Amino acid sequence: MRILAIETSCDETAVALLDISGSLENPDIVVLGNSLLSQASLHEKYGGVYPNLAKREHEKNLPILLKQTLIEAGFMSEADLMTIDCIAITAGPGLEPALWTGITFAENLGKRLGKVVLAINHMEGHIYSVLFEMPKSEFLKLPALALLVSGGHTELVIVRDFGINEILGETRDDAVGEAFDKVARMLGLPYPGGPQISKLAKLSRQKKGQIDITLPRPMIHSQGFDFSFSGLKTAVLYKLKTAIQNDEYREDMARAFEDAAVEVLVEKTRRALRESCPDVKTLIVAGGVSANIHLRNELEKLSTEFPEIKQRLPSKTMTGDNAIMIGIVAYLKVKKNPELLEKKLTLKADGNLSISSAQ
Ligand code: KG4
Ligand code: ZN
Repeated sequence: MRILAIETSCDETAVALLDISGSLENPDIVVLGNSLLSQASLHEKYGGVYPNLAKREHEKNLPILLKQTLIEAGFMSEADLMTIDCIAITAGPGLEPALWTGITFAENLGKRLGKVVLAINHMEGHIYSVLFEMPKSEFLKLPALALLVSGGHTELVIVRDFGINEILGETRDDAVGEAFDKVARMLGLPYPGGPQISKLAKLSRQKKGQIDITLPRPMIHSQGFDFSFSGLKTAVLYKLKTAIQNDEYREDMARAFEDAAVEVLVEKTRRALRESCPDVKTLIVAGGVSANIHLRNELEKLSTEFPEIKQRLPSKTMTGDNAIMIGIVAYLKVKKNPELLEKKLTLKADGNLSISSAQ
């Protein structure tokens, strides 16, 4: 199945042309063309993503990226473009002005080509990003527990079957990626802050065994599986107010923050595996923050504790937002429900689209 996939939920404009076939558990994914443009440097001065600027940039970039993708795929004429089976577009969650830009673009293209446009849940995209470049002899076994960690979300989700998800817990305030970004800003580091914090934390770990800074682990022992990261961020702010900030202190603070955030994520996941998901076969960890090396290292401990549960993380190039993951979800949906290709639905951006409502 040929899918043209588009992603504009946040500050990445992405277009991919995919040829996907085979099973739900390990589809054969051929990338014919793939283009991505990050706006991160434009949003840097705001310390986060500025929605109307994101919208304007998506509007400007989408036609350019579509052209690039088609050229890469060797699609030279409108007749080539007619060979696609459908268009996949992220409908939420995300920034609504940004989502609408993608939806309008996809719908206009769909009308012109007479192709169905499928609405895709961005967080499902992150979940199934793990299917990309999965070894051919392996299969994604469900049910799975998914720890989704991004700039907008932190949630533990039980994936009962393809398209059937149940939220076990989520953040009550800041997402973990957002906390990384805000703490980075306090430390004078550029946006996006996650990789920057990680770099400083690594320096501290290389230089010394122990640090003097201690930070809270919010909700680590609370009942249920919800998270909270805003108190941790505030704790950093208070400590910075009274500290003499030199390079060494900033490295240690980055490490203290990363230690605390990762410990909460891993401990909640451990408890979810122990208490709530007796039949779970796979642990999926995905979203931008899943690129974090310290998190990946700490997750290794869960592999030892739960040897029967296979861990699946996206390859490094697939942790952040991209259009390939959106196309993968479209394939899974159509494979499960082929009549989706016959239906023309009215699409709507939903900034708060829940993963549990994904069909
Ligand atoms: O999934 P994503 O690309 O976009 C959203 O859907 O939000 O996630 C972006 C988030 C940002 O907050 C960024 O700082 C964080 O992922 N991030 C990281 C790392 N790389 C990206 N956080 C911690 N460590 C990293 N290495
Ligand atoms: Zn994302």
